[in-house]
Amino acid sequence: MKSIKSVSVCGLGKLGACMAATFAARGYPVIGVDIDREKIRKVNAGEPPVDEPRLAETIKEGHERFRATDDPAEAVSTDASFFIPPSPSLPDGSFSTEYLLNAMRPVAQAVRKAGKTGHIFVCSSTTTPGAVDSILIPMLEEETGWKCGVEFSVCYNPEFIALGNVINGLLEPDFVLIGESDPAAGDALEQLYRNYNRNKCRIARMSIISAELTKISVNSYITMKISFTNQLRMIADKFPKADINMILDAIGTDTRIGNKYLRSGLSFGGPCFPRDNRLLAYTARQGGGAAPLAEASDKVNELTKTNLLEKVSKLAPPGATVLVLGMSYKPDTYITEESAGLHLAQNLKKQGRRVLVHDFAATAANNPQLNDFEFLNDLSGLSQHQDIDVAVVCCPWPQYRDLKFSPATKVLSTWHL
Ligand SMILES: NC(=O)c1ccc[n+]([C@@H]2O[C@H](COP(=O)([O-])OP(=O)(O)OC[C@H]3O[C@@H](n4cnc5c(N)ncnc54)[C@H](O)[C@@H]3O)[C@@H](O)[C@H]2O)c1
Repeated sequence: MKSIKSVSVCGLGKLGACMAATFAARGYPVIGVDIDREKIRKVNAGEPPVDEPRLAETIKEGHERFRATDDPAEAVSTDASFFIPPSPSLPDGSFSTEYLLNAMRPVAQAVRKAGKTGHIFVCSSTTTPGAVDSILIPMLEEETGWKCGVEFSVCYNPEFIALGNVINGLLEPDFVLIGESDPAAGDALEQLYRNYNRNKCRIARMSIISAELTKISVNSYITMKISFTNQLRMIADKFPKADINMILDAIGTDTRIGNKYLRSGLSFGGPCFPRDNRLLAYTARQGGGAAPLAEASDKVNELTKTNLLEKVSKLAPPGATVLVLGMSYKPDTYITEESAGLHLAQNLKKQGRRVLVHDFAATAANNPQLNDFEFLNDLSGLSQHQDIDVAVVCCPWPQYRDLKFSPATKVLSTWHL
């Protein structure tokens, strides 16, 4: 069996930098490729190119095995190339393959120039189901002049991680997903993961299209569970004696349901959940069908945001001051994409309220849209702030648990902290 002894990682962003660093820390020689010179400089200086807990230590651990370059041709000297550039959503809900094509093409050309057979191209970015077979493989066959599954191979191997916990998520996943063009490539990738993972997790192998569908189905299922919880909370809100936390706690005891993601909270957001769910709906439409459950999760998510805005607006008349605590979409990350806090702050401001914001990681420097708001950086004097009419915790950073507010401030309890 062919084995993978060295790897290249093309795209050293939030996910790729962590993949490359963990491969090196687990003993593999790694070449990182990016178009961003600053990221390359940082990696070669032994510094983390992105903000992610434990990335700095992990880069140090494998520093002598990890170097970065802007020359994709260098990837040819490794046994397998992982591609993890962005795959942004398009207006119709599908994901663009433009960055993947741009990242893979020069490696394919270099493989042809070197006359190297057996290279494994691993796509780790999330793709529109069908895109690997219908767009990426034809491009690779054209550029190499060879047949996929014969002279070179392709695997689809997305990671299931949560920002803020990427390093642990990569090394100790619930399962590894491999879609493969041929069994030999799947065997080689499986072997790599058996050595790389710190836990003994399941390795699920299948066709590339099955793996593409599996990847987005995981996130679509989780969003469905979150939306179910939010729907139930909005129903329980109508009954003064109903306690949503007791209801959810009881429901979660049923082992068929489980208590993960069954917590009274707010809308889901971030760079993956909302768009992966929309992609499943797009994929269903492309196949001539429909995905009403995915669409309903989205609809309930929008209702959840409107519901919060209405509740806060009732407590804070126009002209009032509202403090939005937590702008990131989840704790331990600075990302605010589609976050409950950002949605609330933007809409309250639009409706004429004064909005103060706070977060432990999101700042105006890493989120330019936050320049629109006044930041309250020091929470220690919160109890003296008579001017804050309403405070809402939109992201459950645990540090918010111990806050002391002025008696003049109405606090909207959202995450049951
Ligand atoms: N961030 C997450 O939570 C997460 C989770 C699961 C899946 N994903 C998927 O992973 C992919 C990447 O996400 P990310 O958050 O790491 O993106 P990112 O924007 O943080 O990083 C992408 C990196 O790719 C680089 N790049 C762009 N074009 C390139 C090229 N031609 N060659 C080499 N490098 C190139 C960029 O400079 C950047 O460093 C996306 O498809 C995303 O859907 C992300």
